[in-house]
Amino acid sequence: MLVAIETSCDETAVSIVDVARARAGSDILDEGVIRAEIVASQVRLHEPYGGVVPELAARQHVTSLPILFEKALLDSSISVKDISAIAVTRGPGLKGCLLVGLCFAKAIAYSLKKPLMALHHMEGHIFACELVAKSDRANYPCLALVVSGGHTQLVLMPEFRKYKIIATTRDDAAGEAFDKSATLLGLPYPGGPALSKRAANGDKNRFKFPIGVPNDSSSFSFSGLKTAVLKVVKDLKAGGELSSQDVDDISASAQFAIVKALVDKTVDACRQYSPRSLLLTGGVAANPLLRTMCAEKAKTLGISFVVPPPKWCTDNATMLAALALRIIENAPETFDTWNGRDGMLGPDVSMEVGAVARWPLSEL
Ligand code: KG4
Ligand code: ZN
Repeated sequence: MLVAIETSCDETAVSIVDVARARAGSDILDEGVIRAEIVASQVRLHEPYGGVVPELAARQHVTSLPILFEKALLDSSISVKDISAIAVTRGPGLKGCLLVGLCFAKAIAYSLKKPLMALHHMEGHIFACELVAKSDRANYPCLALVVSGGHTQLVLMPEFRKYKIIATTRDDAAGEAFDKSATLLGLPYPGGPALSKRAANGDKNRFKFPIGVPNDSSSFSFSGLKTAVLKVVKDLKAGGELSSQDVDDISASAQFAIVKALVDKTVDACRQYSPRSLLLTGGVAANPLLRTMCAEKAKTLGISFVVPPPKWCTDNATMLAALALRIIENAPETFDTWNGRDGMLGPDVSMEVGAVARWPLSEL
């Protein structure tokens, strides 16, 4: 059994997968391979502050993780002794939060003398794209649009675990653009999902919000959008409170500007790099408009499109398990001999692997 642990931000997550069955040829989505998966959201804890408070988040992981771990063992009807490997997020993320998961994982690995895989959070998001039907999975070379609360990147993958970042944000991440626009509209925390719900009833053409750096294919920029939303809100409020229709229309217009910026640059990159598959992943990939527009563009471009179900787009531990299984599949001897490769600990390897708050995917 492989235990995966994710604590990089404000979700504590534990999943358990049957690594023996996977190694014997079963697919991760075959019945019974994922034995347990739990995500404990800290949304209510951070709600009064309108954003994640790092110290509170870390403390909550300390409280939640042991409980989740016990529950995951119960859910999968296994005991600690059945664990044969541990995967954990090493970074990037909030340092204090990462440390909780990493120290917990190291302790299990050390005490059971089992290998530990200390993994990259964004690589985990990319491998969430394995959590779709086998026939729908990506073909290399592929291009991933990775959009979360902290990252907005276009990543080219010529082959397994090779990453070239071809576009990134100059300022806010796409998730932040959703969250900050939502805050300006007085929508409940977390803003992204709330704004996307309101957008469903709004008119996207009522306000024309700017698309950041339209002529730079290697950058995204969302700070101008935030200022533009603020201006519209102020102007409308000068005539009284925002009506419900105003909120719906601003939501739809802001969502459209964010999604169009993401999709336009993704299409440009597809034309330039000719990938066989387009991947969409990270928390913002749960956005229905983004999913639909990416799917349509991929169809027009004649390439396949892969997006995980929404529950595996936002932070979870099953995406790490999916990555860990692929690593094991591609290097079975390394795994079997605990042969201390970078990021992989065995009982005979140093325990010095540390949490990394900032860790570009290209430096993996
Ligand atoms: O990947 P994730 O769960 O955590 C990070 O690693 O950051 O991404 C969280 C981000 C938040 O900014 C959240 O507002 C956004 O994903 N998000 C959405 C939606 N669901 C989550 N943004 C737009 N529409 C959604 N439906
Ligand atoms: Zn994430």
